Amino acid sequence: MTRITTVSLRRVLDSRGNPTVEADVLTESGGFGRGAAPSGASTGEFEAIELPASESIAAAREHAVPRLEGLFAGDQRSVDAALRAADGTEDFSAIGANSAVAISMAAAKAGADVVGAPLYQHLGGAFRGENFPIPLGNVVGGGEHATEATYIQEFLAAPIGAPSVEAAVFANAAVHAAVADVLDERGVPAAKGDEGAWAPPISDAEAFEVVAEAVDRVEDDVGFEVRFGLDVAAAELYDEDADAYVYGEETRSTAEQIEYVADLVDEYDLAYVEDPLDENDYVAFAELTERVGDRTLICGDDLFVTNVERLREGIDVGAANSILIKPNQIGTLSDAFDAVELATRNGYESVISHRSGETEDTTIAHLAVATDASYIKTGTVGGERTAKLNELIRIADDAV
Ligand code: PGA
Ligand code: ZN
Repeated sequence: MTRITTVSLRRVLDSRGNPTVEADVLTESGGFGRGAAPSGASTGEFEAIELPASESIAAAREHAVPRLEGLFAGDQRSVDAALRAADGTEDFSAIGANSAVAISMAAAKAGADVVGAPLYQHLGGAFRGENFPIPLGNVVGGGEHATEATYIQEFLAAPIGAPSVEAAVFANAAVHAAVADVLDERGVPAAKGDEGAWAPPISDAEAFEVVAEAVDRVEDDVGFEVRFGLDVAAAELYDEDADAYVYGEETRSTAEQIEYVADLVDEYDLAYVEDPLDENDYVAFAELTERVGDRTLICGDDLFVTNVERLREGIDVGAANSILIKPNQIGTLSDAFDAVELATRNGYESVISHRSGETEDTTIAHLAVATDASYIKTGTVGGERTAKLNELIRIADDAV
């Protein structure tokens, strides 16, 4: 292991054109790593804090960088502990989770570079043939990621029968293309949302028909099982004053929302449902999981925010059976690993995820392999999405 000599931070563009933080970590033996923070639009109330990029960089330069210089780049726990100590808050509100996560990822890559190992191996994983993370691909969406589109934030292709990473990645791209065909046949024009999914001006009910049709066509074509799932992002639909989920003119009480989602699981044979209920409602989550958790994944994103305390609370009441892992929700790779470990010990599946605002950083592809995660959620098309998918193909090909 060699010591960190330099940590540099700069503002770079994310996929929405906003400034984000990029970190470079250099070691005395010439090891190098670079990481860039992603950024959410439908952020959870309990996430670590993202500061404006310039503010975060200035604070990290002052408080974190001096503590990092001299640490061993490959000692991830010490690097991440130094970031926490430099910040001094629970939620990284002093230096910003954006600088923290960029540095944490850059240090991991520098540590890998020093020993000449691919990042996924350095982080502890080995790619085990058929046991690859299945990519969940956003093909239709709205919510906070597009205007005049569906209320449900994401309709996600789930190629669960794919024999290889490559087959799965291309199946998702085929579903994305098939959705365009089905929309075209219906005379529906569609722009794209922040993650590259189609954002057509149709009702949620019609979106279910369109995606189901597209998935059927691709399934026939590829010859393995392709299903689909949802990220409802229900915290964005929930109106606290009305105590109801608001879908434009239509509202649903919590009981009706549970009923609605449970019916969708059965009608469309959904493989995956993320954030079907409000981020504060563990009880309703538990009720839905009790009803359909034997035949679909109920995943907590805004509910758990990659936070072991919130996950523990969820495990205690049976709130879900899987967790979304977004390193920038919690601030460091060590924290993200801890969440995966707690999830795994309790029979929860882990889904390693991108954010709606992304860069060409490919760390999450390595993280998904390193943690042996069941799924990776990283869009379908668009350079910042394909960066991760293509890296996953390279990892499977042992070509990173
Ligand atoms: P976000 O959305 O990155 O805008 O928070 C992604 C998600 O909700 O999964
Ligand atoms: Zn989500």
